[in-house]
Amino acid sequence: MDSILVTGNGPLSGRIPIAGAKNACLTLMPATLLSEEPLTLTNAPRLSDIRTMTALLQSLGAEVTSLQGGQVLAMSSHDLNNHVADYDIVRKMRASNLVLGPMLARLGHAVVSLPGGCAIGARPMDLHIHGLEALGAEIELRDGYLHAKAPRGLKGAVVEFSFASVGATENVMMAATLAKGTTVLKNAAREPEIVDLATCLRKMGARIEGDGTSEITIEGIDRLHGATHPVVTDRIELGTYMLAPAIAGGEVECLGGRLDLVASFAEKLDQAGVTVTETETGLKVARTGGPIRAVDVTTEPFPGFPTDLQAQMMALLATAEGTSVLEERIFENRFMHAPELTRMGARIEVQGGTARVTGVEQLKGAPVMATDLRASVSLILAGLAAEGETVVSRVYHLDRGYEHVETKLQAVGAKIERIRG
Ligand code: EPZ
Repeated sequence: MDSILVTGNGPLSGRIPIAGAKNACLTLMPATLLSEEPLTLTNAPRLSDIRTMTALLQSLGAEVTSLQGGQVLAMSSHDLNNHVADYDIVRKMRASNLVLGPMLARLGHAVVSLPGGCAIGARPMDLHIHGLEALGAEIELRDGYLHAKAPRGLKGAVVEFSFASVGATENVMMAATLAKGTTVLKNAAREPEIVDLATCLRKMGARIEGDGTSEITIEGIDRLHGATHPVVTDRIELGTYMLAPAIAGGEVECLGGRLDLVASFAEKLDQAGVTVTETETGLKVARTGGPIRAVDVTTEPFPGFPTDLQAQMMALLATAEGTSVLEERIFENRFMHAPELTRMGARIEVQGGTARVTGVEQLKGAPVMATDLRASVSLILAGLAAEGETVVSRVYHLDRGYEHVETKLQAVGAKIERIRG
């Protein structure tokens, strides 16, 4: 298994290109199942999760061709010949569950393995099931698989989510595009990835309004046609790289960065003493003097502070002046990076969903272990500010969500390399 060696090397300077969003691409790809005509995605990120979704779609009979080094995905689901999403693939990546809604709508049946638990929490699918059953699907859990069928097709309905679940909103919105009649999703997720999916579905002929708000209305139609769609910028990769100059000092421009995608996060950076400026080509982030100030953070559904940036923010606050309180309200077990940061000298007390972080003068490099995707990159960020060498092991977690992290950081002066394991 590869590991990454980071050596604290002072302030950074230069530009980092931000890729297309993993979490948008992982819901845009299953949208190909809704139509017999080709769907092509551009600005796709080159990540192992995208390769996992590619393998899953191909196992269902879809054609997925990766072009331009993976930045273009040319897909066609003209000849689907399998409606079972196998445990072997689904257990690797929870987002595999996003084939459920489209398959049900297109084929009238689907068998999708439950994803199983993952590092950050139980992550059940009750809200996905609730929404699809409201559209008339019959769903039964048997041998760890969801067996779903809609022999008479899906019918529009009003669906109220008890929690603004991103995946459940995506699954039900995709299914509703081919249901008979009108569907209204209440307390729907508002993430930019939902808006990107709705935009792509509209290009395919779907009738969707209200995406980006908590009430989305979908008028079902008989069939969707093909389209070409650019994947929206990855706001989590963007936020992650905004933290590099924040924690190491210096000034970095994140190319393609958009302030509207990270508004609440940028607000917290500003409070912490980091300057964020919009430029013609992205977002410039500078920390050229003065200490990082402690700030309190609570993770919430969009437009609140994103849970996927909590671990990375904790690394910054571990170097701040004062004590910060981080509340993780989305997942029940998303502080596994805390003990690893503690090995680097951070002072963190975790109690349930709350972490109290008291900043220290200087983090110290140490061998640490990645536990999940975002935890692994928070350890790299800490390594940028630490004295001495930090070796982050199990970086396969990292490769799921960050393309060439060492190359992007080397380009702005970081001392970082991959050690082939
Ligand atoms: C998406 O996961 C993202 N993944 C996650 O990013 C992200 O952290 C999460 O949304 C929240 O923003 C993708 O888009 C592929 P949820 P998803 O349904 O859809 C509970 C990353 O690092 N819940 O909004 O699974 C669930 O257990 C990943 O890129 C139910 O209880 O998130 C969790 O506690 C990690 N029942 C909370 O809701 C359900 O049926 C949020 O889940 C569904 C969810």
